[in-house]
Amino acid sequence: MQPFPPHNLTGWPQAQVERTFGVFYTTVRAGQAGLSDGGGPFGFDITVALLVDDLLSAFECDAIVETGCYLGDTTDYLAHRYPDLPVHACDITQAHVAFTRQRLAGLSNAHVTCLDSPLLVARANAAHQRTLFFLDAHWAPDWPLERELAAITRGVVLIHDFDVGHPRFGYDTYGDLVCGPQVLARMPDPPEVYFTPDPQADWPLPCLQTGRRAGVAVLAIGLDDEALCSHPCLTTRHLKEEVHR
Ligand SMILES: C[S@@+](CC[C@H](N)C(=O)[O-])C[C@H]1O[C@@H](n2cnc3c(N)ncnc32)[C@H](O)[C@@H]1O
Repeated sequence: MQPFPPHNLTGWPQAQVERTFGVFYTTVRAGQAGLSDGGGPFGFDITVALLVDDLLSAFECDAIVETGCYLGDTTDYLAHRYPDLPVHACDITQAHVAFTRQRLAGLSNAHVTCLDSPLLVARANAAHQRTLFFLDAHWAPDWPLERELAAITRGVVLIHDFDVGHPRFGYDTYGDLVCGPQVLARMPDPPEVYFTPDPQADWPLPCLQTGRRAGVAVLAIGLDDEALCSHPCLTTRHLKEEVHR
């Protein structure tokens, strides 16, 4: 596994940061049609894109999955940013899939399907060895996150709209279940630890999202999480402590 680059402005691979910057800020924010954060890749938080750069390199991922693509802002970003990786995205709403497919027509690495997300997760989990799963499917009455997590036996997982316990970062709640450590505790084999970005971390690019900023959590399933423990911008969270906080 590759070590993360040293965390300072001169230590981050300059070409990687510039490439992420260029693709991120040229991606159309079509999601503004219905997203409270105004749309854009990863809720218009470039630090999440930088984190994804690190995760893909450190875990040597061979595929990317996005569940719940909506109008394709993140799918578009991922397919352009990582042309050598297959990017599998799905949505349960046919109109969202049709729009995203049209938007990404011509990008041979982008595969957009109309599916209940746990099915896509299970297929990718079977087809690839080290998938990066970006889990962002919600809004429908049946929230699929628990079923998505249960379908993963091997991969690195990034959960969007997760409660990171900081007032600047938003999260989702379904019924009385918060998208937070309680959901991880309900996994068939709950992880001992998960990781959240340190809100004070000094990323090489600033987040320009001035509106709603989503919390994210990262966990490794069936893979060594040493690379996450040593990441300079991530905080290690012990699940048993977090669920009782
Ligand atoms: C917050 S939006 C996703 C935003 C998108 N990931 C982005 O970055 O622009 C959530 C999407 O999840 C979809 N969704 C809800 N339940 C789903 C399910 N079971 N399977 C697939 N998609 C689902 C919704 O239709 C909606 O388009």
